Amino acid sequence: MRLIVAITGASGVVYGKRLLEVLRGKKVETYLIISKAAENVIEHELEMTKNELEKLASHVYDVNDLTAPIVSGSFKTDGMIVIPCSMKTLAGIAHGYSENLILRAADVMLKEKRKLVLVPRETPLSVVHLRNMLDLASQGVLVVPAMPAYYHKPEKIEDIIDFVVGKTLDQLGIEHELFKRWTN
Ligand SMILES: Cc1cc2nc3c(=O)[nH]c(=O)nc-3n(C[C@H](O)[C@H](O)[C@H](O)COP(=O)(O)O)c2cc1C
Repeated sequence: MRLIVAITGASGVVYGKRLLEVLRGKKVETYLIISKAAENVIEHELEMTKNELEKLASHVYDVNDLTAPIVSGSFKTDGMIVIPCSMKTLAGIAHGYSENLILRAADVMLKEKRKLVLVPRETPLSVVHLRNMLDLASQGVLVVPAMPAYYHKPEKIEDIIDFVVGKTLDQLGIEHELFKRWTN
């Protein structure tokens, strides 16, 4: 399986890191793009550098490299995950504004009708944010907000992170045991 993973400058870059770790363990081929804004958030929120984070991926592309294979629909992939997804990138995807590699790769997912999973992180949400999410969801985009649940009884922050990452993997049908499912 080949997946594009984008990390943008919303809070919660740890979700992107954890997703890459899990996909690596499952031998999924990953194509990673990190936005410029995400570089600052990585520095602030993670105890690792952007370069260390990139080592978790199979392939890494610069966000401004608009010649990478993933700019084209002719390059076959099984989908794309933007985790976390900033409101700026969400707006760019919703409006087809493909001015960087993350936005272009997502645009390819839409035009080729491939799976696109967005993990937005913002609160509160404005009408613009909600409208953009509705537009995307009505085109088949899977919008999975970074909203943890508590029914699986998380005991540590890692359990909360794993819940969000697990719900993201569920959208792509990737098996995992990152959280205990509800079985009443
Ligand atoms: C520490 C920090 C946290 C941020 N958190 C969020 C957030 O949770 N959601 C969001 O939409 N933007 C957030 N931003 C703002 C984005 O980084 C900014 O809008 C940026 O232009 C997004 O660019 P990108 O989509 O290319 O990564 C944050 C910025 C910083 C510095």
